[in-house]
Amino acid sequence: MKIDEMIGGALDQVVNSRVRDAMEYSLMAGGKRIRPTLLFEVLKGYGKDEEAGVPFARALEMIHTYSLIHDDLPAMDNDDLRRGRPTNHIQFDEATAILAGDGLLTEAFHLCALSKEDPSRVLKAIAILAEMAGPSGMIYGQCLDIGESQQDTFEDIRKVHLYKTGCLLSAPLMIGAVLAGKDDAEAEAWHEVGNLIGLAFQIQDDILDITATAEELGKTNSDSRNNKVTSVSLLGEKEARRLMHDLYEESCARIAQFGGFESAPLITMIRGIEARSR
Ligand code: IPE
Ligand code: IPE
Ligand code: MG
Ligand code: MG
Ligand code: MG
Repeated sequence: MKIDEMIGGALDQVVNSRVRDAMEYSLMAGGKRIRPTLLFEVLKGYGKDEEAGVPFARALEMIHTYSLIHDDLPAMDNDDLRRGRPTNHIQFDEATAILAGDGLLTEAFHLCALSKEDPSRVLKAIAILAEMAGPSGMIYGQCLDIGESQQDTFEDIRKVHLYKTGCLLSAPLMIGAVLAGKDDAEAEAWHEVGNLIGLAFQIQDDILDITATAEELGKTNSDSRNNKVTSVSLLGEKEARRLMHDLYEESCARIAQFGGFESAPLITMIRGIEARSR
């Protein structure tokens, strides 16, 4: 499946407007598509057709894109480059960027509700998506990130990472398991794998913020400008790298333990994420 084409279909039913243009502008700007790809790898690993995951894959990328549009706003990280393009509020305006985020979030759930998969599985998957994206998930993490609580220790920042980044990486793994008919305990085991990947991924994001250029990343390096407490500012780059590697390794070890699951392609994908340069 061509992932960008599949994602592009997400907005086919949306009426033409300036806000639709703004939604498409950020959605189709060429993200790495890690969350939909994780979902497809879990479905395939369980021997389930990827087609079953399409509405959820679109929804995950739409919700992730909305989180980035809002994260870049002047009231949050105040960034002007994202996915190699001017950020949404720079290209359009702040009001349109807020609405584009709202539109992506709402339309994501619309698409999931129209899924033709088994209704009890779909309902469960929608509940997981809402929990992982919402005020007890990613939004809670963003709330902590903007300084809702003091971040003095790695334990503090670990919590921010798990919520702001881990939750939206756990969601595709858990949803894949649910759509494949696995039980709650198995979905919860995938949640833990997502926590490991999410923590590693955000530590890596913090490292890249200081080691790569904005051009390489396609986004502005804003952590130090915003005086962010990050895993690198707390641990130092060397220790952060060691921890990141250990977490990715642990996630792969856990993935290899799932019964009835062909783990090699997903593990290869995780190793590719660890090797990323943006
Ligand atoms: C960026 O996510 C935000 C974080 C959680 C660190 P990605 O690195 O997956 O961004 P895109 O989708 O490739 O733009
Ligand atoms: C954001 O973390 C995670 C989100 C939920 C959007 P960052 O603020 O570090 O993400 P980037 O570096 O802007 O992509
Ligand atoms: Mg941020
Ligand atoms: Mg940011
Ligand atoms: Mg960052």
